[in-house]
Amino acid sequence: MNTAELTPLTARRAAPLQGRVRVPGDKSISHRALILAAMTVGETNIGGLLEGEDVLHTAAAMRALGAAVEQIGEGAWRIHGVGVGGFAQPAGPLDFGNSGTGSRLVFGAVAGCPIRATFDGDASLRTRPMRRILDPLEKMGARVIEQAEGGRLPLTLQGAADPIPITYESPVASAQLKSAVLLAGLAAPGETTVIEAEATRDHTERLLKHFGAKLTSKPHGQHGRRIILHGQPELEPAKVVVPADPSSAAFPLVGALITPSSDLILEAVMTNPLRTGLFKTLLEMGASIEILETRDGGGEEVADLRVRTSALKGVEVPPERAPSMIDEYLILAVAAAFAQGTTRMRGLQELRVKESDRLAATADMLRVNGVDVQIEGDDLIVHGKGTVAGGGEVATHMDHRIAMSALMMGLASEQPVRIDDSAFIATSFPAFVELMRSLGADLT
Ligand code: S3P
Repeated sequence: MNTAELTPLTARRAAPLQGRVRVPGDKSISHRALILAAMTVGETNIGGLLEGEDVLHTAAAMRALGAAVEQIGEGAWRIHGVGVGGFAQPAGPLDFGNSGTGSRLVFGAVAGCPIRATFDGDASLRTRPMRRILDPLEKMGARVIEQAEGGRLPLTLQGAADPIPITYESPVASAQLKSAVLLAGLAAPGETTVIEAEATRDHTERLLKHFGAKLTSKPHGQHGRRIILHGQPELEPAKVVVPADPSSAAFPLVGALITPSSDLILEAVMTNPLRTGLFKTLLEMGASIEILETRDGGGEEVADLRVRTSALKGVEVPPERAPSMIDEYLILAVAAAFAQGTTRMRGLQELRVKESDRLAATADMLRVNGVDVQIEGDDLIVHGKGTVAGGGEVATHMDHRIAMSALMMGLASEQPVRIDDSAFIATSFPAFVELMRSLGADLT
């Protein structure tokens, strides 16, 4: 990308954040709802779908694979599925843009069909490791026909005509990996088993059951799960209502905690316990986050959260909490910079292979704004002093979460914080800037 195309943005300390908002639909559930609806026989309606670029790429991929995918209103989509094993060979390459989740989940869905598909994406996605997903899919009978160096995109996958069910012990805590194996397992006869040492987000399992698959999930070891899927089900259409994304809610939430005199209500945020590591950590830091009301939001628990400016203190974040807050360490690091004392976040190796190397990028984001920060092995250590100087320009590396985290920091730092590019915010939270301005944020 040349610099003439960049759209910088600056956040300044101004008014408190006040009001009541609902952040967009959950990204993980949105991808899965589209893919699973495309694997049913019949018509599924989805409400509250996140219409961010990542999810729109998955919608386009489902269309290219033969499903009828239609937007019928804001967040409202109708999908006519082709059934398990029913995908057609796409006419051209599938473009997943910036989305690791979209590409990896669709790898699994294609792996169980006798079709050949080429997967591609933007410069960030082309750097991300895919081997971890391809290893189990090859065991199930899929074949990699062409790939860029190191098993990266662009990559052509030949799906299996007769997929083989496997028992797979996942070497990394990754919901994407687990989901790819389960999606491929749908087309295999018998039982496909995934064993994870650390439980990761379970939206695929919940939605599989919602669409009529037979699946059991049992505890495994201290923190893990053993998930067994019975293959070749006839998936049945079922309405999906996507709850608000806790990973998106994290930005205004931390913004309100650190911006003086803020008082905010975040409506209907999903509180699936495998996604709430950030909330738990912030509460330990002394955050004022009040649950006003909980209710069922389409198979997931949701809650209205009231958030008020809080004096935060540094804490230790244990490594086993990482899967439940893997996308939230950047914004937690911002909260930690405004806390008093040291926050040590342990076991962050997976952050190195996200939309950017988030471990290095988080440290850089803080350092250029005058925060004392260190990386020790896989740990991130932030020495909070209660205030942040700001005044830095943050390199966003095509990473939406760096962009949004840095802007939240600028709302409360002494000097403004500028980001080099705001374009990638649209991958997960297209209305972010507008929504934050409506709460009082100064973003120009
Ligand atoms: C996701 C899983 C996580 C997360 C990503 C979304 C998912 O990745 O970082 O943003 O929807 O399954 P990993 O499974 O690779 O940890």
